[in-house]
Amino acid sequence: MRMVKVPLGTRSYNILIDRNLLKSLGAECAKLNLGQRCAIISDSNVAPLFAKAAQRSLAKAGFDSVLITVPAGETAKSLKTVQLCYDQLAQHRLERKSFIIALGGGVVGDLAGFVAATYLRGIPFVQVPTTLLAHVDSSVGGKVGINLKAGKNLVGAFYQPRLVLCDLDTLKTLPEREYRAGLAEVIKYGIIYDASLFDQLERDLPKLLKRNPKTLSDVIGRCCEIKADVVGQDETESGLRAILNFGHTIGHGLEAISGYGKYLHGEAISIGQVAAAKLSAQLLGLPEFEVIRIRDLFQRAGLPVQVKLNPAQLNRLLDAMKLDKKVSAGEIKFVLARTIGKVEFGQKVPMNLIAPVLNF
Ligand code: NAD
Ligand code: GLY
Repeated sequence: MRMVKVPLGTRSYNILIDRNLLKSLGAECAKLNLGQRCAIISDSNVAPLFAKAAQRSLAKAGFDSVLITVPAGETAKSLKTVQLCYDQLAQHRLERKSFIIALGGGVVGDLAGFVAATYLRGIPFVQVPTTLLAHVDSSVGGKVGINLKAGKNLVGAFYQPRLVLCDLDTLKTLPEREYRAGLAEVIKYGIIYDASLFDQLERDLPKLLKRNPKTLSDVIGRCCEIKADVVGQDETESGLRAILNFGHTIGHGLEAISGYGKYLHGEAISIGQVAAAKLSAQLLGLPEFEVIRIRDLFQRAGLPVQVKLNPAQLNRLLDAMKLDKKVSAGEIKFVLARTIGKVEFGQKVPMNLIAPVLNF
């Protein structure tokens, strides 16, 4: 088993990565001194696949669990679903000593984490991610929250889990498109922090696409180490943590103007990262051949790398980007790369450079 520690003083926690880990969920929770009762929050796709195994393991370790199933998909990250979860927690008399288990992808993790952060002014929670994106990104670092009509993740908190348990076997049932979308976040870690991870991804992509467990364990472990390192230095994103948003300003804009339906998050940030690489070449001197390496790796992972927008769509994209949370004092700040493995945050980008880099 691979173990990565997220170093946050008294709120430090471990990320455990292995195959067949769900069966140890109860035993791992028992080590954390949590109460005897818990609620598993999962979605309508994931619960039928893994909730029984999770409940069996919890029962074996002496925990009493209830299952709360929410609809699958981004729309579950809403105040309405939060209310539904609160009502069920109260109905099952979960009290302050109880805890929550988020069993699912990033949607469930963000939602269940937000419920845990606010129910009874906060009860502990454990992340059991089941998508590749959630293994390497959303389950780690404590950003929890929900969407408003006005935009994504506009209500939330920094609230760290007590444990992240990544069972690689859960990825076997993940639909191919979702899996490839998760690879966009994996490639991001190579670009922002680790040139040798990027080299490894170029080499091992075929194995990764076949979901080879050994390669997955190595790569997920390294991504989690990078995220843990960044979050350990800047938990609440006053500076460094912004590098995790490489490609996200354009990516979030694309998701917003297409009504969060056309692109998966990973697909939108694939286009965003390739565009950010082009901007990096113009503004920070990222070598042109590295831009090509970046574009080619996303392409080989089966992800989109460009988008054609008409003038009206382009204006909507620029407007959407101005509404992003990363805007401060009306200025959009980008994360740009100097070389593969080294980025800088807080970079000003003139708006007129954006359109040309969206379409090679
Ligand atoms: P998701 O949670 O919607 O999961 C994708 C789809 O796969 C869903 O239909 C789900 O039911 C299904 N699924 C999940 N696991 C499965 C499995 N093992 N087998 C079969 N089907 C499975 O999407 P996601 O990509 O995991 O997460 C996206 C969300 O994460 C967004 O809301 C985004 O804002 C959030 N996010 C949060 C952070 C953070 O730091 N908190 C970081 C990145 C993204
Ligand atoms: N996914 C970006 C962050 O956790 O900060």
